[in-house]
Amino acid sequence: MCYAIPGRLVEIKDKVGIVDYFGEKRRVLVDLTDAGIGDYVYAQGGILINRIPSEEAEEILGAWKELFSELKGIDEDLARVRGNCKSKNLPGILQKVNLNQELSKEDLRNLLRLETEDDLGLLYQTANNIRQKEHRNACCVHGIIEFSNYCRCNCLYCGIREDSKVKRYRMGVDEIIDAARYAALELKFKALVLQSGEDLWYDEDKLVTIVSKIREFQVLVFLSIGLRDGATYKRLFEAGARAALLRFETSNEGLFNNLRPGTKLEDRLELIKYLKGLGYIIATGFLIGLPQEREEDIINNILLTKSLKPDMYSFGPFISAEDTPLRNQKPVDQETILKTLAIARLADRNSKIIVTTAQETLHREARKKGLLSGANSLMINVTPRHYRKLYRIYDGRTEINKDTRDTIEETISLLYSLGRAPADLGV
Ligand code: 5AD
Ligand code: SF4
Repeated sequence: MCYAIPGRLVEIKDKVGIVDYFGEKRRVLVDLTDAGIGDYVYAQGGILINRIPSEEAEEILGAWKELFSELKGIDEDLARVRGNCKSKNLPGILQKVNLNQELSKEDLRNLLRLETEDDLGLLYQTANNIRQKEHRNACCVHGIIEFSNYCRCNCLYCGIREDSKVKRYRMGVDEIIDAARYAALELKFKALVLQSGEDLWYDEDKLVTIVSKIREFQVLVFLSIGLRDGATYKRLFEAGARAALLRFETSNEGLFNNLRPGTKLEDRLELIKYLKGLGYIIATGFLIGLPQEREEDIINNILLTKSLKPDMYSFGPFISAEDTPLRNQKPVDQETILKTLAIARLADRNSKIIVTTAQETLHREARKKGLLSGANSLMINVTPRHYRKLYRIYDGRTEINKDTRDTIEETISLLYSLGRAPADLGV
């Protein structure tokens, strides 16, 4: 199995290259690796991560050629819009979508209020259709290593908050590198998210070692380590990290202040902007269904994400966690999650949207439904198995008991059944 199809670099100018995948062209940044026109390359997240020898690439492409066009056909078919609608607002909004016009806040609110099966079906299909038009059948599959559950913060919703009695673990530097080596070289991941609580045991030097060693496995290094100094992120960029996942969690400042004591929304937003300025690929987003969240907040969350111009949207439902002040809160319904996903797609047409593991925890078919409602990106947990249950940010995580290779198999068959291929989405 592979999570990336090699492409051929056909143009390059000022560090921006064009990679061809069976005739489809995607833009990539060429700053990590030297590459020239005619080279076969792998790209992830719109960044060229390595060159590969022609014979190897041609062999892989030979195996993909027929499958690629078959998958494209399946995807095109599934992405046709066939439904009817009942809501009087919906046709006007869909007309705007088809004409590529910006949707107003009022439009987004009306979409979030849709209720009938017909209307929802049409919303999801339209989102899937736009995803197909913007990104074709490409789908990113990233691996995630949760390397420490220590956290200096005390967010009320989070199961690994400082006050939680969860058993703590912290993977050593070499252990993290070994886990990444296995994910990259054995499981063939091309992008690895390194996630932890805000754990300052990993100082700048340790993080630099981790990033630069993992970069040697020719993967995109994606950091998800929370608030750190700008200078630290800068050094990590120089060490080869190229992507950062940092959610702002909620755009509602009052809610943010109540739920994340001692931290400020403004600081998180500033850091996200700073990281973008440094050249990081940014994934950001929010939680859905926090206590006291209003309809308005969901719309504002989508609009704030959009205004940050992220490369990727990452949002998911809040799910309660044992031993936290919010342990008795019920999660949001699946429809609200799918509506949020579809609305994000319509509000920001060419975004990349992840189906997050929290969505999968709540609903068995979340991946399939999410991918058919506008999403085009997935993550697979590649944390060593004995640590997974300790990274308990919320309860009931489903993927933690499965063998990674089984999860990979299931993911691949799901992607194929939906006509998706792991080609890079470009920038
Ligand atoms: N439910 C869902 N997601 C959570 N996170 C933290 N706690 C929870 C929870 N109870 C998410 C936050 C954070 C990410 C690493 O985990 O959004 O950004
Ligand atoms: Fe720490 Fe993140 Fe959990 Fe907050 S949400 S306690 S910052 S791991």
